Amino acid sequence: MLRIGVFGVGHLGKFHLNNWKEIEEVTLIGFYDPDDKNAVPVQEKYGLKRFSSPEELISACDAVDIIAPTPSHFELCALALRNGKHVFVEKPLANTMDEARTLVKLAKESNLKFQVGHVERFNPAFLAVKDMQLQPMFIEVHRLAQFNPRGTDVSVILDLMIHDIDIILHLVKSSVSTISANGVAVLSDTPDIANVRIEFDNGCVANLTSSRISMKKMRKIRIFQKDAYIGIDFLDKKAEIIKLNSPGDKNVFTFDIETNHGIKTIAIANPAVEDGNAIKMELEAFKNAILHNTSTPVTIMDGFDAMEVAHKILEKIGKAQP
Ligand SMILES: NC(=O)c1ccc[n+]([C@@H]2O[C@H](COP(=O)([O-])OP(=O)(O)OC[C@H]3O[C@@H](n4cnc5c(N)ncnc54)[C@H](O)[C@@H]3O)[C@@H](O)[C@H]2O)c1
Repeated sequence: MLRIGVFGVGHLGKFHLNNWKEIEEVTLIGFYDPDDKNAVPVQEKYGLKRFSSPEELISACDAVDIIAPTPSHFELCALALRNGKHVFVEKPLANTMDEARTLVKLAKESNLKFQVGHVERFNPAFLAVKDMQLQPMFIEVHRLAQFNPRGTDVSVILDLMIHDIDIILHLVKSSVSTISANGVAVLSDTPDIANVRIEFDNGCVANLTSSRISMKKMRKIRIFQKDAYIGIDFLDKKAEIIKLNSPGDKNVFTFDIETNHGIKTIAIANPAVEDGNAIKMELEAFKNAILHNTSTPVTIMDGFDAMEVAHKILEKIGKAQP
């Protein structure tokens, strides 16, 4: 049995609690949250022990799940690693690059498992296409949300765009060469809307727009590559592939178009998207990594790389301000 201690039982923390309860080989030891408003109802509803200090909870568990606000990630992760506990921490890994560097050093010196909550890696729409030959050359991304003061303790880049940065770095097997960015703080003290162009050494270009001040929600990644277009809708959990038809393609709708090289047959497919609970899958993967000594699917270096790009974007936005 793996003993899990939870830090932070706010909006997302409650989803984590519900999922941990359904995962086998795990005992929820209890939680730490300094705010009575969230902690007292959770204590009553879940019958869980509320620990009175982070140190006390850490000494009672084997692994921690940190769903506290981003500015406290560093302190809690460092405390857990220094006390020999495995760490799952929500995205972004930390608030500053110095914090992220220290965590990488501590994690490397330990023999502990560390996973970052880039949960879109487990989105069923992404899982439906991720095994096809993805070699993106142009990527268009929109992640739009309505305004919610929760999360505005960090910019829209660290709050929302970091999900797409992680997916893009995971897909494009090349180094970032150039970043251009602009962003505006409309309702909060940090950018609420931003547009970013990331160029990679292999020629791929990603154009990302993130907003937390939109009227409508959207979470889409459109990938263009030599022979295909792949659309991933992370919100509605749908995927679409449009490509040149190959003999043997199944379950596709085809049509012909005339090109300079003669008639080509185009195939449109909607790959089956399986029902799946992304949070449960990521937490299960973390548990399995600890109990069966496998690698965590989203490593501390994945979290670090996404943060590094996010901070370069923030620097560019800072320089672009009048
Ligand atoms: N992966 C995702 O899609 C996703 C979605 C939402 C939030 N998040 C991340 O999850 C984290 C929490 O977000 P949220 O929306 O649940 O915020 P929230 O404000 O609803 O909840 C945070 C909770 O943490 C508690 N807290 C504050 N300081 C603490 C500390 N030192 N130790 C333990 N608990 C502490 C607060 O009292 C609060 O109850 C953030 O880092 C955010 O970026 C990730």
